[in-house]
Amino acid sequence: MRLRYHEPVLITEVLEHLITDTGAVYVDATVGGGGHAEGICRRLRTPGRVICFDADEEAIAHARKHLEQFGGQVEFVHANFTQLKSELCSKRVGTVGGILFDLGVSSHQLDEPARGFSFRSDEPLDMRMDRQGRKTARDVVNNTDEPMLADLLWRYGEERGSRRIAKSIIAARPVETTGQLKKIIESAVARKHSIKSIARVFQALRIEVNDELRNLDTALLSAVDLLQKGGRLAVLSYHSLEDRIVKEFFRRECATRVRSAHKYVPDKEIAPRARLLTKKPITASEEEVERNSRARSAKLRVVERI
Ligand SMILES: C[S@@+](CC[C@H](N)C(=O)[O-])C[C@H]1O[C@@H](n2cnc3c(N)ncnc32)[C@H](O)[C@@H]1O
Repeated sequence: MRLRYHEPVLITEVLEHLITDTGAVYVDATVGGGGHAEGICRRLRTPGRVICFDADEEAIAHARKHLEQFGGQVEFVHANFTQLKSELCSKRVGTVGGILFDLGVSSHQLDEPARGFSFRSDEPLDMRMDRQGRKTARDVVNNTDEPMLADLLWRYGEERGSRRIAKSIIAARPVETTGQLKKIIESAVARKHSIKSIARVFQALRIEVNDELRNLDTALLSAVDLLQKGGRLAVLSYHSLEDRIVKEFFRRECATRVRSAHKYVPDKEIAPRARLLTKKPITASEEEVERNSRARSAKLRVVERI
C-alpha cells in the first residue's frame, strides 16, 4: 500500500526553474497529490498564490486537503488544462509568473483499482482521468474497428505488434477488464516482449481515452499567452510522444527565423515569444530514480517568456 498519494518528480529542479517572482500568481495545471504545488506555495510571499487545476475530481479533493494549511494562497479548479485561459479569465487573472505541467497519471490513479489504469491487477477497463468523461477504455476496446484499433495502438503506443494485437482483441470481444486485456496481449506477442507490449497498449488506450496529445498541444499554446514577461513554462513529460510535442512546441516558440521553402527566397526573421532555458531536458539523478522509479523516464523542459 502506497503511503503518499504521489511522490513529486524533480521537485528541486522544477521549483528552481519555475519561480522567478515570488509575489506572482502561479498555475499548477496538473495538481495531482499537490506535491509540486506545496513546494510552490512554500516559496511564495503575499500576494503570490497558486491556482491548481486537475481533470480528476478526486485529485482536487485530495490536494485541497493536503494544501489546507496555505489558506487563501491556493485555489482549486476542477477542469481540463485546455480550459486554462477561460478559467483564469473568469478569475480576472491576466498573466501569471509561471505554469507547471506534470503530465500523465498520478501513482494514486494507477494504484486505485476502480480507475482501471493498471494491468498489475484485474480491474474494469476505464482509464478516464475525469470520471465525467464519456469514453472509457472499455468503449474504445469494444467499439473500434480492427484497422482503427491497430492504428491507434501503433500511433499512441508505438507497438510493433499492433495489427496482431488488434486482431486478437476483436476475436476476444467483449473485453471487460484490464486482466482480460493483458491475457489477450500476452497471447498475441512473443513472451519475451509481452510486458513491454502490454505497457504500450495500455499507454495507447489511456492517451486515446483522455485525448492526451491533442489536449497538450492546445494547452501549451494558451500557456505561453498567459505568461508575464520573464514568466516560465515548465513541462515534465514521461514518454517520447509527449516529449516530442513539448520539444517541437518550444522550438517553434523560440525560433528566430522561419526557413524559406525556396532556395532563392531568404529565410524570414521573426520575433520569438520565448527563450529556451533547457537545451537538453533535465532528468532525474540516480538517487531520485532509486527512491522513485517513476522519475526514470521524466524529462523537464522549460521556456521563459520574452
Ligand atoms: C503526474 S500527476 C501530477 C502530480 C503532481 N505534480 C504532484 O506533485 O502530486 C498528473 C495529474 O494530471 C492530471 N491531468 C492529466 N491530464 C490532465 C488534463 N488534460 N487536464 C487537467 N489535469 C490533467 C491527472 O489527473 C493527474 O492527477
